[in-house]
Amino acid sequence: MLRSTSNLILTALALASGITASAVPRSTEKFNWSAKKGLLAFGDSYTYVQGTHGHQNFSFIGDQFNYAYDEKTLLSNKIVQNQTGTAEGGPNWVEYLTGCGEQPGLTSPRTCKKQLWDFAFAGADISTEYTPLHHNFTVSLVNQVKQYAEYGHSTLTRLLPTSETLVAIWIGINDVGDSAKYAVNFPDFYANLTGTLFDSVETLYDLGYRSYLVMNLPPMDRDPSNVGSSLPTPNATQVSWWNEALTGRAEKFGKEKKDVEIRVFDAHERLAWILDHPAEFGIVNTTGYCAGYDQPDIEWNYRAYGCPTPLDEYFWYNTGHMTSHTHRILAGELEAWLMKG
Ligand SMILES: *[C@@H]1O[C@H](CO)[C@@H](O)[C@H](O)[C@H]1NC(C)=O
Ligand SMILES: *[C@@H]1O[C@H](CO)[C@@H](O)[C@H](O)[C@H]1NC(C)=O
Ligand SMILES: *[C@@H]1O[C@H](CO)[C@@H](O)[C@H](O)[C@H]1NC(C)=O
Ligand SMILES: *[C@@H]1O[C@H](CO)[C@@H](O)[C@H](O)[C@H]1NC(C)=O
Ligand SMILES: *[C@@H]1O[C@H](CO)[C@@H](O)[C@H](O)[C@H]1NC(C)=O
Ligand SMILES: *[C@@H]1O[C@H](CO)[C@@H](O)[C@H](O)[C@H]1NC(C)=O
Ligand SMILES: *[C@@H]1O[C@H](CO)[C@@H](O)[C@H](O)[C@H]1NC(C)=O
Repeated sequence: MLRSTSNLILTALALASGITASAVPRSTEKFNWSAKKGLLAFGDSYTYVQGTHGHQNFSFIGDQFNYAYDEKTLLSNKIVQNQTGTAEGGPNWVEYLTGCGEQPGLTSPRTCKKQLWDFAFAGADISTEYTPLHHNFTVSLVNQVKQYAEYGHSTLTRLLPTSETLVAIWIGINDVGDSAKYAVNFPDFYANLTGTLFDSVETLYDLGYRSYLVMNLPPMDRDPSNVGSSLPTPNATQVSWWNEALTGRAEKFGKEKKDVEIRVFDAHERLAWILDHPAEFGIVNTTGYCAGYDQPDIEWNYRAYGCPTPLDEYFWYNTGHMTSHTHRILAGELEAWLMKG
């Protein structure tokens, strides 16, 4: 654990010095997570939390057909924490990081010490310019940000000032998976996609946000749908091309805007480390998932579904999602990294 933490810090330092140090003044590189009062999140199923005014299994608030919302709906909305409240059967990384909505039941983000306002939508890609929607009600990343700018921001900024907010974005998992078999020049394609992503970041910048945390792709080539395949979709090269494009964009953004702190957390490196050293993290299964993962009695009755160990001893929750246990480990490492500045 200790070793992996120090490795993490080395990675963080390497990332900071190699990628952003020349671009961004030293003082603005420091996140002061302890000074932040909340997290504003966008993304896909890895990040979404269910809201009482959301779409079960998909969102905190609304969907593409229920796109507008008013102040009353936003402020009365509560995070749902139970087996169907996230895509991992329990709290996910943003809930562990903020502690908001981590407890079973309903939580108003307004009551949290670190508020979590999470507009991620399960199944989201960046934009229909590049890949089709998973469902006709899916809110793409581009539309999540537009929707927030139009309906959420003026209200939220009164509860959570922009200067006390960390914006967190984890996107690309669906984009890279959905397009893995396209006949394109992938580095160019990913440059276009991440360019569109950063047009949305620009919108958030215009709203006044100055602190950004960007997560890179997990080792998708090692998920249960790909592991052991001779033609994983995506393959490790595609994942690394995306991650390079993403880091390059973040660097460019930091260089252009002299007053932002933007950092890419190397989730890929951390998750690959856990996959390679599972015993250090109480994980025994890194290749499969428990077939009964979404059954109501799975927590204690896992053997009935042919699973030798409880879900918490699996790295993967299902074909493409990590367990809540893995999210908790990741969030712990992320928090330590954010605190290091
Ligand atoms: C971070 O913020 C906390 C709380 O506001 C403050 O006490 C601390 O001095 C800050 N740390 C740095 C390095 O600025
Ligand atoms: C949400 O997902 C759970 C678990 O797969 C399923 O049982 C439930 O029916 C889904 N809810 C909706 C509204 O589709
Ligand atoms: C989770 O809570 C929501 C909202 O209270 C409810 O609709 C849903 O049925 C619950 N799911 C489970 C698995 O208990
Ligand atoms: C959305 O898709 C569903 C199922 O595919 C379909 O029944 C419904 O009519 C569609 N809604 C709209 C507004 O297109
Ligand atoms: C990237 O965008 C440029 C400009 O729109 C376009 O000419 C090019 O074909 C795109 N590349 C890919 C691989 O989609
Ligand atoms: C992964 O896929 C890309 C695009 O098809 C291909 O160019 C690359 O060689 C592949 N890499 C590996 C390791 O298979
Ligand atoms: C991982 O879990 C799957 C599904 O439960 C199982 O089939 C497989 O044998 C397990 N692998 C290991 C190495 O335990």
